[in-house]
Amino acid sequence: MSSIQINVSNAQIDQLKTQGLVLGVFEGESLEGPVAKALDEMYDGLITRLMEAGEIRGERKEFHILHRPDLPVQKIIVLGCGKKSKFKPDTVRFLAAKGARTARKLGQVEVSFLLEPCQSLEDEQLGELVSEGLIMGLDRFELYKEKKKSDRDRLDEFNVVLSGAKESAVQAGLDRGAILAQGNVLSRQIANHPGNYMTPSRMAEEAQKIAKDAGFEFQVMDEPELIEKGFGGITAVSAGSEENCKMILMRYRGNPSSKEIDLAIVGKGLTFDAGGISIKPAANMHMMKYDMCGGAGVLGAAYIIGQLKPKVNINFYVPSSENLLGPKSYKPGDVLTMYSGKTVEIMNTDAEGRLLLADAITLAVEEGAKKIVNTATLTGAVVGALGHFRTGLMCRDDEFKSLVTESANQCDELVWELPLDEEYRVILHTAVADIANSGSRLAGATTAGIFLNEFAGDVPFCHLDIAGTAWVENLPTQYNFKPYLPKEGASGTVARTIAIIAEKLAHA
Ligand code: BES
Ligand code: MN
Ligand code: ZN
Repeated sequence: MSSIQINVSNAQIDQLKTQGLVLGVFEGESLEGPVAKALDEMYDGLITRLMEAGEIRGERKEFHILHRPDLPVQKIIVLGCGKKSKFKPDTVRFLAAKGARTARKLGQVEVSFLLEPCQSLEDEQLGELVSEGLIMGLDRFELYKEKKKSDRDRLDEFNVVLSGAKESAVQAGLDRGAILAQGNVLSRQIANHPGNYMTPSRMAEEAQKIAKDAGFEFQVMDEPELIEKGFGGITAVSAGSEENCKMILMRYRGNPSSKEIDLAIVGKGLTFDAGGISIKPAANMHMMKYDMCGGAGVLGAAYIIGQLKPKVNINFYVPSSENLLGPKSYKPGDVLTMYSGKTVEIMNTDAEGRLLLADAITLAVEEGAKKIVNTATLTGAVVGALGHFRTGLMCRDDEFKSLVTESANQCDELVWELPLDEEYRVILHTAVADIANSGSRLAGATTAGIFLNEFAGDVPFCHLDIAGTAWVENLPTQYNFKPYLPKEGASGTVARTIAIIAEKLAHA
């Protein structure tokens, strides 16, 4: 992972030399901090005059470049931050990402950010938000392009200019934010590979690299072993594919004095979903290369956890497979015996994710997990319900639900609750087996959650359906309001949320 060096200083403005300084301004507010005022003086009061003339208003999305190559601060990149009353921590990520992207576009080799003491934010949090925005904002996926923009870009020096904040605290925050952002970026990079490259065995290789660097125990159960051990869900899904399915496992012991497995993290690693015999329509089927974003999120989280080392014990599970069509494919009407022993009648082979996840969840329960968090691009229904702005959360345990929600809020990967009431279970009733893998079209996200929850038994279980948030498509319905997300491609969502869940459990 290429790392970005960010320097921090409480420099005086007259000592500052930079090709461009990023300055955030709030709507309807005048310049406040002493450094911003000194900067304005250097520019002969230009900022103030433009504010008075109504040219700089500070509205969100507004930006101006004030260019004076003869001065030590050669440019001021003024970014509107919206109303101060609407300020939230995410505004700092926005500022850092947009500022860095603008400087890169302008061909700068170096950029500075001015951070005046900010509202209610602690110095450390401020640093964290800046490096998150910067690193996530500058990430681009160009692996499969001959001409890469990144060959042309020269921006590689980042300076944070403080006025009064504690340098060491900001630095600590910058380091922490960099780890979180790198986990996000790693998820994106894994998820952005097309299906012909990112097969289940390649996913296992990616996991192995992460496990090795982090010192986690690593294990892969290959298809023959899974068949032998009775993992009837994942192996049925994989039957129509030449590629072997894999159950990828990692074990982290951050609290070796305890034997408990505080948390199991499960993510869907479906490297391509054609739907199987219940084949998907051709339009947009190529997007189903992203059906492994849950698994990629789990791998990104593993990277972060390996760096931050919270004092908890965690098992990671990424069941990985393709869902294709072939003479050996599983079929509608088939009855599978899952790893748990439960039988499932297949109503639709396109409801495959829950089958591999259920087997992984059973394994997590068997290995003694005290809590389980599951994440997957599981249903089109969640996109219908929530669009692309929030991840669907389903959980019957109030305490765990709030811990997950707080974790998601902390990194602005917002969630919204959908029901998981027992009453919905009737939709999955079948006369033939213990449960059906899909029912009517009603409450599609919930019935998927109900199915998974059943395999968790009494273990507190939280399911995050990221089908709407896992990638960005540059559609009008998916207006990209966050400059630290890619314009198109995998968003790396849930990697940070999950890592923060682990941290919170360490302190619980
Ligand atoms: N991977 C898909 C869900 C999906 C759909 C993710 C759209 C992202 C965007 C999943 O395997 C699937 O096909 N689900 C079916 C379930 C149905 C057959 C019960 C769906 O949502 O249509
Ligand atoms: Mn499917
Ligand atoms: Zn799928």
